[in-house]
Amino acid sequence: MSPIHHTYDALVVGAGGAGLRAAIELAGKASVAVLTKVYPTRSHTGAAQGGIAATLANVEEDHWEWHVFDTVKGSDYLGDQDAIEVLCTEANETVYELERMGLPFTRTPEGRIDQRRFGGHMRNYGEGPVRRACYAADRTGHVILHTLHQRCVKLGVQFFNEFQVLDLLFHDGACCGAVAYELASGELHVFRARAVILATGGFGRMYRVTANAHTLTGDGDAIALRRGIPLQDMEFYQFHPTGIHRKGILLSEASRGEGAILRNNDGERFMERYAPTMKDLAPRDMVSRSIYQEIRAGRGIGGQDCVHLDFRHLGRDVIRKKLPDVNDFIQTYLAIDPAVDLVPIQPTAHYAMGGVPTTVDGQVRGDGKDAIVPGLYAAGECACVSVHGANRLGTNSLLEIVVFGRRAGRRALTDLQRAEWLPLPERPDGPAREQLERLLDSSGHELVAAIRQELQEAMTTWGGVLRTGEELQKCLDTVVGLKERYQKVRLEDRGKTYNTDLLEAVELGHLLDLAEATVFAALARTESRGAHYREDYPQRDDANWLKHSLVRQVDGRLELDYKPVVITRFQPQERKY
Ligand code: FUM
Repeated sequence: MSPIHHTYDALVVGAGGAGLRAAIELAGKASVAVLTKVYPTRSHTGAAQGGIAATLANVEEDHWEWHVFDTVKGSDYLGDQDAIEVLCTEANETVYELERMGLPFTRTPEGRIDQRRFGGHMRNYGEGPVRRACYAADRTGHVILHTLHQRCVKLGVQFFNEFQVLDLLFHDGACCGAVAYELASGELHVFRARAVILATGGFGRMYRVTANAHTLTGDGDAIALRRGIPLQDMEFYQFHPTGIHRKGILLSEASRGEGAILRNNDGERFMERYAPTMKDLAPRDMVSRSIYQEIRAGRGIGGQDCVHLDFRHLGRDVIRKKLPDVNDFIQTYLAIDPAVDLVPIQPTAHYAMGGVPTTVDGQVRGDGKDAIVPGLYAAGECACVSVHGANRLGTNSLLEIVVFGRRAGRRALTDLQRAEWLPLPERPDGPAREQLERLLDSSGHELVAAIRQELQEAMTTWGGVLRTGEELQKCLDTVVGLKERYQKVRLEDRGKTYNTDLLEAVELGHLLDLAEATVFAALARTESRGAHYREDYPQRDDANWLKHSLVRQVDGRLELDYKPVVITRFQPQERKY
């Protein structure tokens, strides 16, 4: 069987905000294709709700230097400060650019882009909350996604929808294309390209309770890892404090930005004790941890693993106008009314701070440090620039995808002026085809759904918000055992058309590799920092651990390396909110 061949100057893998923003930069100046495993407007950027950070100062004084400080402090000092400065200084320009593309922001009475409060965003280097999040009700990601997609369509970007990426192609260490599986036909496609931009999003589906769509299985990260590229800071996985209890569906932080309050079983506003200044708008690592501490202390609602989010004092009008989707989700999934009822919530797996290490121009660092992989770029959640360090501030991810998507596209375009067409490897589809045939022909007895469920259970129980060395070791042993069982999975569907059994098996393989890398790095880091909270090492330890981790697969085994954090303006301090 021979694959179907395509040739483009640039190939973007993933059609969320980062991928689309990169494609816009290339469109019309180079031939560009976007391949995506869902229809572009179903990409997970559409689920981002509350806002995009920019110091427009439309409603109160604000400065990009304050935003840099908040992001550095929010990252628990693990974010690279040179990259954070790029993020914050380019924020206003990229937001106005979205406005000019037609993005329907919510407006102030004077017609400016309105701004609201969000966790960890503060005025004057930590004095109190500031209104920095630009927003479109609680559908900000949705409108960003649609605006960028419409612009791509207008510019003639070619889309390959429902194509699952399986492999990256290299010649002498330079990337020269990718291989993908077409869901509708079961055919393999080889894309030859002089620039490949990974924008495949996160991998929250390794957890049981998650705000991530089923598609978020870390495909780009897993393929990069298998191809010898290290992943950076994998131990830092963000739990958003307010997912619907047991379901994990996101109730935007904009809820607390608009004034909703967390309460324990005694009705107490417990965040006053943990974060006296910012209270419910402390950063997510702190709020998620505080919720679990309340639950541990027996103050969860009715003895369960949840607390309440209280909207009642906001009134029906504010809820409907400012938080229409949150209102809808609560009514649909809990059959209660937030204007009247208390809403049960628990932290939900939300965002990977770690990923493929890149420069501020999206160039992939092949050794995690200085070596650039020619022709390969990454942007958005699958990348680690690193602007979020150990903990991301809300609204900085929508900002990241437009700032660094644009930069990756620009850099790829510049590099295309010199990039040659490299030869493809002999049988470029060989490894991908063997991977699929192994799964399709297996006579094993293991079920994908069962392994996935056990993975999610282990990661949630032992690799979640609170961790110990003992738990992480159990988690790692479990994941390694599941990887062995994965070699014996049996598929029910062996057909070619829309074989979602096969797709899910491929995705599970990606999740298993990424879970192993996450826990491996977490076990080694014997300190607590940001989202990585070790109950057996509860202090941050700058003397030994103010460094990025790099985890690499060598002959199927994982190895760790480290590199320094870039510190320019702000020396690490104790984090108080
Ligand atoms: O809560 C939210 O609306 C999520 C925003 C974000 O993760 O940036």
